[in-house]
Amino acid sequence: MDRREFVESCALGAGSLAATVAGSAWAANAKPRAYARVLLTDAFGQAIKASSLLAQTNYVFHYPFEATPVFLLDLGKPALATSLRTRDQQAYQWPGGVGPTRSLVAFSAICAHKLVYPTKDLSFISFRKGAASNPQTPSKGNDLIHCCADHSQYDPARGARVLGGPAEQPLCAVLLEHDPKADTLTATGTLGGELFDDFFKKYEMKLSLEAGPRAKQAVVGRSVVRELDSFCRNAVRC
Ligand code: FES
Repeated sequence: MDRREFVESCALGAGSLAATVAGSAWAANAKPRAYARVLLTDAFGQAIKASSLLAQTNYVFHYPFEATPVFLLDLGKPALATSLRTRDQQAYQWPGGVGPTRSLVAFSAICAHKLVYPTKDLSFISFRKGAASNPQTPSKGNDLIHCCADHSQYDPARGARVLGGPAEQPLCAVLLEHDPKADTLTATGTLGGELFDDFFKKYEMKLSLEAGPRAKQAVVGRSVVRELDSFCRNAVRC
């Protein structure tokens, strides 16, 4: 096979793979959205090893845009595929966790209720190990993502489905690939109810101060993963 044939066969292979991802591998209404392939790195630009992540610990990176935060979690237990619906009743099949024990998951950290999100100064939304202890709003289970703004609760082991509170749809999933040889993680797209347009509309001024003109730019190549407690000065636990 000469070079041209090789390139053409690769292109064909990539095309059929894309068709599979966009079609038969997912439920009828599901439309995973492909964004740039982005390697997850540490603050020095080195690829993070998935096995180095602490279980049940909040990590944050930004994807698919410079100002849109994502939670990365090693749940410490397998997260299996789950059927879900967006608030406009589009069905989709969340593929579950990745990695050797399928415990690695990622979800947009923008609350599906009123778009609360973690900033460097403050976060009302985060994963809580065990049960939250707020007597006003009892936890709907263990190991959930809680939004303290109005007490929506999401289960990250089941595609971030809503277990309590006013949110009308799961957190939008970020699709990950795990390279078993290199033990690296790559974000490839999203699945579920995206709220990025609403987010940019609601916080236009704030985001331009926080992230400058790059706020709406797509992340390219790499995205830095940080523990929430390093990224954010005041992570509120309700
Ligand atoms: S903004 Fe998160 S529950 Fe209202």
